[in-house]
This record gives sequence, structure tokens and C-alpha cells, in this order.
Amino acid sequence: MVIKKAIIPAAGLGTRFLPLSKFVPKELWPIVDKATIQYIVEEAIASGIKEIVLVVRPGKENILAYLKDVFSAKRVSFSKVYQKEQLGDGHAVLQAKTKEITAVLFGDDIVESKTPALLQMMKVFNKYQRPVIALHKISKEKLSAYGVVKVDKISKGVYKVKDIVEKPSIKQAPSNLAIVGKYIITPEVFSHIKASTKAKGEIRLAGAFQDMLKKGETIYGCEFEGKWLECGNKQAYLKSNLYLSLKHPQFGKELKQFLKKENF
Ligand code: UTP
Repeated sequence: MVIKKAIIPAAGLGTRFLPLSKFVPKELWPIVDKATIQYIVEEAIASGIKEIVLVVRPGKENILAYLKDVFSAKRVSFSKVYQKEQLGDGHAVLQAKTKEITAVLFGDDIVESKTPALLQMMKVFNKYQRPVIALHKISKEKLSAYGVVKVDKISKGVYKVKDIVEKPSIKQAPSNLAIVGKYIITPEVFSHIKASTKAKGEIRLAGAFQDMLKKGETIYGCEFEGKWLECGNKQAYLKSNLYLSLKHPQFGKELKQFLKKENF
């Protein structure tokens, strides 16, 4: 089974970056000299994805225009669907109206790695033919801001997910593995998201996975090799920008000299 399609939910309100995000979608903000979402699409293409469905809200169409321009020479097709109400990432994924096995890549989680993170996840999927969630180890103090998994280790970097605990205290955290916004989802995941649309509140992908786990269904975790560069909050966005700027072959050297000169 070869996965050819990726959904990129990019319809969020970006409340952590208001009011700027209201006028310029955060997915288009530069990290060094490229839009954040460009890194995500590069990862998808390098993993063999041929078809990208972008979920946007009215007013964010320029994300699609940008991607079509940047990737015009690549063998990848782009389409957009609207999420008119921001009811959560799971609800955004449903708007793609697909049921096939699909990658889901959030618009603000960049991974710098030798092997693209999605390709590493595809290897896990190919072996087990079950949904896969991207995982990354983070420090204890940060766990309370993430979805954290309880796992059984299968092999190096591969886990069976047993439970998902949202934003746990250090004491409650079942591991130090946080969920990163990259998934491989199967038709059952779509059904579970649909089933949860009757519930009140946000419709989250993590919620659908929790429901599946409760029913005893198997979900795998892939702790990818690479550096996770988050862009969804101000501090992380600045750090990711700084990190990739300092590592940039054209700009890095001079930037480092500048920081030294300025006594940083
Ligand atoms: P986030 O949880 O980071 O939400 O979404 P957000 O709206 O982008 O930012 P904050 O939390 O308000 O600051 C994770 C991913 O899911 C998408 C976002 O665009 C992002 O790529 N998303 C979220 C949607 O497409 N629709 C939604 O209703 C919520």
C-alpha cells in the first residue's frame, strides 16, 4: 500500500498570533526565506506524496496560490477544501471528504531530518497497516502543553499506543513522548471522527484516537529521528526561525558573527 495523498489542515484561527494571523495566515510566515508550510509540503513530496488537499477557511486562499507557485515544477497536485467553522483539527480533516489511507500533516510542525519524518512513519505503516502517530521526546516540564502517550515499545522508535493523555501534569504524564502534528490515518479513523461530531466542543483527531483505543483498536507511534521545530506559538516560532537561520548555508555564518559582535 503506497500512500499518495496528504491532508494539510490550515484552517485554524491561530489565536496565539492574533491579530497578525488574522491578516497574514501564519502558515505563510517565513522561516528563514520560505513559508512555514513550504517545509511541510517539501516533507510530503520527499515522502512520495502526489496529491495534497489543503483545508483552509475563507480568506486564507493565498496559501494555495503560494504553494502552486512554488511547486509548479513538481509532480504534485494541490486542491483546497473549506472549513467554514473552526470546530477543531478533526473536523478540518473531515472536510477533505476522503476515506482512503491518508497522511495528515499540520501546517505548523516542521521536522528537520535526514529521512523525512513522514517517510519514517510510512515505514511503520507498511509493516503494521494500522494508523500511525508521530511522537517526539520532550523534557518533563514541557509535557503539560501537549498530548502525551502511554506506550508499549515494539522496537527502536516504534510503539503501540495504549492511551493518550491531553496536557498532563508532570505527575500524570504516562511517558515523555509528545504527539507531533503528523499522522497516517485509515478509513476507521475517519469514521471515528465522524462519530465524535455529535459530541460538544472541538472535534479533535486525538479524540478519535482515544475512542479507538478505548475500543481496543491498535494504533502505532513512530518516534521519528530528527529535530522537531514547532511554529505554533511565538517562542517556538522564533526559536525555529533562529535555528534554521543559523544553520542556513547562505546566511548562517554571518548571522553567527553578528550575534558574537552584539555580545549575545
Ligand atoms: P492548532 O491547535 O495549532 O490551532 O491547530 P490554530 O488555530 O492553528 O492555532 P491556535 O491554537 O488558535 O493558536 C493545529 C493544526 O490544525 C489546524 C491548524 O490550522 C493547524 O494546522 N486547524 C485547527 C484547522 O484546520 N481547523 C481547526 O478548526 C483547528
